[in-house]
Amino acid sequence: MEIHDLAVAYFSPTGTSRKVAEAVASGVACTDVLTFDLTHNSVEAHIGSASLAIVAVPVYGGHLPQLAVERLQGLRSDGAPAVAVVVYGNRAYEHALVELSDLLSGNGFNVVAAGTFIGEHSYSSEQTPIAAGRPDADDLRLAGTLGMKVSSKLSRLTSLSASSLVDVRKIRKPRQPLFATARFTFSVMRMIMRKVIMPPAPLTDASLCLHCGKCVDLCPAGAIKKGEEQMTDKSKCIKCCACVKGCPARARTFPTPFAKLLAANFKYRKSPKLLC
Ligand SMILES: Cc1cc2nc3c(=O)[nH]c(=O)nc-3n(C[C@H](O)[C@H](O)[C@H](O)COP(=O)(O)O)c2cc1C
Ligand code: SF4
Ligand code: SF4
Repeated sequence: MEIHDLAVAYFSPTGTSRKVAEAVASGVACTDVLTFDLTHNSVEAHIGSASLAIVAVPVYGGHLPQLAVERLQGLRSDGAPAVAVVVYGNRAYEHALVELSDLLSGNGFNVVAAGTFIGEHSYSSEQTPIAAGRPDADDLRLAGTLGMKVSSKLSRLTSLSASSLVDVRKIRKPRQPLFATARFTFSVMRMIMRKVIMPPAPLTDASLCLHCGKCVDLCPAGAIKKGEEQMTDKSKCIKCCACVKGCPARARTFPTPFAKLLAANFKYRKSPKLLC
């Protein structure tokens, strides 16, 4: 089966899912690439069956972010092969890969390969590093390998059939140190019982803000208005931390107590898993 072009789609507020999607694409022997960045807008596109779709989405609370689900609705096909990729912050991806596979199948794609990758956690900071710097060179090499594997799989087929599809539930799970996970769960339950308040959105130190508007451009949810950058519309904010990581003046912070817990309990390096 010959692949004429690639459709690379991602929702990626802090850029890690984008990096993984591009690295998977770099492994496929095809230079004709159409990019669909769904971080800020939806698209209405029909992907032809001679294209290969590579779709990467981050994991939020073990699921796909609702905004990503909405943005992916306009990406449809009548049988194109697809690679489903989720990127998570070294804790767990739980339901997200099955959700992405189901969404793509529902939109007319044939999921022929999948991958679970690790990206620097949106809550990671110098004080609380969580998978800092990932995806790194080793992760991106594995993403390229996934692209190569799917390319070679499709080249061996004349057409897609039920046996070409993958069941993403069968993907290997990363090793999960039990004690750290139990300690994390216990700490979260204790926080809930003590009614610890979670910040509903990042805070802005108005004395540091340069009013450069970068956070406005980075926000995928339209929660920050130009000229009023010290305010955040809490009802729109998805807590993606794109504005925090992208602020050149470090004026924005997201002081969630989760960051410390995640940094303390998920130090063990998880590795990407591929299914093809
Ligand atoms: C609201 C929110 C919830 C998250 N939930 C999880 C999670 O359940 N498990 C996990 O390992 N990482 C979680 N993360 C971390 C992201 O999945 C990770 O940082 C990912 O690389 C971000 O992708 P992006 O750079 O494409 O935005 C969460 C991040 C945010 C903002
Ligand atoms: S990116 Fe930072 S400095 Fe620029 S407007 Fe936003 S909060 Fe202010
Ligand atoms: S305001 Fe909220 S949704 Fe917008 S970039 Fe910041 S954290 Fe993300």
